Amino acid sequence: MDLGLKGKIVVVMASSKGLGKAAAMEFAKENATVVISSRSQEALKLTKEEIQKRTGNSDVHLRICDMSKEHDILSLFQFVIQKFGRIDVLINNTGGPKAGGFSAVDDSDWYNAFDRNLLSYIRTARAVLPHMKKQQFGRIINISSSSTKEVIDGLILSNTFRAGMVGFSKTLAREVAGDNIMVNTIGPGRIATDRVAELNQLAADRQQVPIEKIIQKSESEIPVGRFGDPEEFAKIVVFLASSANSYLTGQSLVVDGGLLKAL
Ligand SMILES: NC(=O)c1ccc[n+]([C@@H]2O[C@H](COP(=O)([O-])OP(=O)(O)OC[C@H]3O[C@@H](n4cnc5c(N)ncnc54)[C@H](OP(=O)(O)O)[C@@H]3O)[C@@H](O)[C@H]2O)c1
Repeated sequence: MDLGLKGKIVVVMASSKGLGKAAAMEFAKENATVVISSRSQEALKLTKEEIQKRTGNSDVHLRICDMSKEHDILSLFQFVIQKFGRIDVLINNTGGPKAGGFSAVDDSDWYNAFDRNLLSYIRTARAVLPHMKKQQFGRIINISSSSTKEVIDGLILSNTFRAGMVGFSKTLAREVAGDNIMVNTIGPGRIATDRVAELNQLAADRQQVPIEKIIQKSESEIPVGRFGDPEEFAKIVVFLASSANSYLTGQSLVVDGGLLKAL
């Protein structure tokens, strides 16, 4: 299948590692022009080199962008438009919110999670939409969590703001579908990244058991029998963000190896 991504301008937020990096790698394999970003110049530099080496695509660019800072977001998209004159694909992603239940988070945690995990996606969408409308082409993927379908105990900030993300994403999808802009949300279940390793460690500390026990139990709950690989997640992101997807919009999907029982 021709995904039609060759030469497309793709911006992947929070992509120095984990799911964002895996998505950037897959877009580079499709010969897109890829802009990666995160808070760390050094990490981005290494990631850029790795993507170029593994894919043979030299058209990979990096920009610092802290998703909780409006100025960083505006300046990233100013750079993209000045350099390439268009933007075809936006992959919204950011670091996970602080873990904890209701009593573990205070007002500043709530505000921080709003800034980083919801307002950031709204700001990036606002920055790209005028260009996508002018082009009459655009794809926006909002990376969320399986908590959009089934809350995860002890992750109240994720459960709250990812639900907001789905409402935002669905509403926006309906507003811009007539401009050939597709907007979808994709939630990872348990994909093997540092974030999942960190949550496993927190669970092990809380339950005072070895981390291997947490991993074993977690994998046994997944019908496929293992954590997902970031590349498996990224391939789905890339398909939905390509011109091969011209009709699926406004959806909230999970990539979870069959983990969730919710319909
Ligand atoms: N992996 C899973 O199975 C899973 C499950 C549910 C939800 N999620 C969610 O999916 C998202 C990505 O997760 P991941 O597993 O890929 O995490 P990860 O491996 O920890 O990677 C997080 C990425 O986000 C960047 N980042 C963190 N804070 C940022 C900020 N304020 N601005 C810009 N970039 C920032 C990090 O780069 P720098 O440190 O260089 O900034 C890094 O590149 C998170 O929101 C996570 O909660 C993941």
